[in-house]
Amino acid sequence: MSSIEDLLQSLPDNRVVYYTLVFALLVGVFKLTTFVLRLGSVLVDLFVVPPVDFVKYGAHSGRWAVVTGASDGIGKEFALQLAKRGLAIVLVSRTKSKLEAVAEEIATKYKVDTKIVPFDAASDDEANYLELEKAVYDLPISVLINNVGQSHSIPVPFLETDTTELRNIITINNTATLRITQVIAPIIKATVEKSRGKNRGLILTMGSFGGLLPTPYLAVYSGSKAFLQQWSNALAGELSADGIDVELVISYLVTSAMSKIRRSSLTIPNAKDFVASALKGIGRRGGAQERYATSTPFWTHALMHFGIDNTVGVYSKIANQLNLSMHQSIRQRALRKKAKAAASISAEKND
Ligand SMILES: NC(=O)c1ccc[n+]([C@@H]2O[C@H](COP(=O)([O-])OP(=O)(O)OC[C@H]3O[C@@H](n4cnc5c(N)ncnc54)[C@H](OP(=O)(O)O)[C@@H]3O)[C@@H](O)[C@H]2O)c1
Repeated sequence: MSSIEDLLQSLPDNRVVYYTLVFALLVGVFKLTTFVLRLGSVLVDLFVVPPVDFVKYGAHSGRWAVVTGASDGIGKEFALQLAKRGLAIVLVSRTKSKLEAVAEEIATKYKVDTKIVPFDAASDDEANYLELEKAVYDLPISVLINNVGQSHSIPVPFLETDTTELRNIITINNTATLRITQVIAPIIKATVEKSRGKNRGLILTMGSFGGLLPTPYLAVYSGSKAFLQQWSNALAGELSADGIDVELVISYLVTSAMSKIRRSSLTIPNAKDFVASALKGIGRRGGAQERYATSTPFWTHALMHFGIDNTVGVYSKIANQLNLSMHQSIRQRALRKKAKAAASISAEKND
């Protein structure tokens, strides 16, 4: 006699209790099976499926990628690694001299064409978008990396958030990203059409754990990244019939000027390793199994995303409270560091 029959025979005789327990057992088996399958999908996405071949996005055939926030950190790495894969690069960000240096590095290392468009995304000036359009309208662009972003300088309660910081975060992360996409996406669409089905287009947008989990003390940044999640997913539905893959890329911390973390660790990769995982995993969800057109590509971030989603849940009170205490303590440390720096400057002045 099988153990399942044993189990069923050991259930009480009362019919209501019997069927309730059988139902609970079936639900349990179903949940466990889907959990195992989803975890299996995470592991296959991360460690088994071969890297995406960028030929499908026009690599080595004169196509261009536009990268925003391309002069530093993650954006600079996207520019370098896309150039390495054989795309010419339009570099967009604030500081002209930094853009020129990255353009030179790319041209020297990877022998692809580059173009720079200096652009202060915080100004939300229509003239910027016109300038961008003028600079790129005749290029066969197939890829857009919406990477430019700003966070709070240190974690801060929403009611104490400086208004300029609040406006800049929303303008850079949301308004500028959407307007840049309105300029570039029609060009990608035309490039894909001209290729007669040979190439696809790609629009990647940088999300964040800040947008995945409501994040107290980074409330404006958190909301701006959650906005990008919904917008990017909606756009994915709209543009898939045009042959354009639209994907939101979710990341936990990465070493950069923005995160103010210099040393990488198991859960905090450097920009190079993070971007390598993002480009390798395009079209796969990694840790974002529950989300359409979304990827959490770096392996430890993926396991964290999957773990939170399958335990307490991203919108739970417990996740919110843990996030609150973590950011309160980061704020305390940042304030202490600021006070120490101010004290040493005033001591130097007095000497
Ligand atoms: N680092 C992380 O831990 C982390 C985690 C999750 C998500 N992300 C997201 O990843 C993206 C890149 O972050 P990162 O850490 O690489 O940042 P970063 O190192 O601070 O680099 C930011 C880039 O954006 C440009 N930029 C900043 N403000 C600008 C403005 N007003 N106008 C035009 N360009 C501007 C900078 O240009 P300049 O060099 O000229 O200033 C630089 O090229 C952001 O969207 C961020 O939210 C980062």
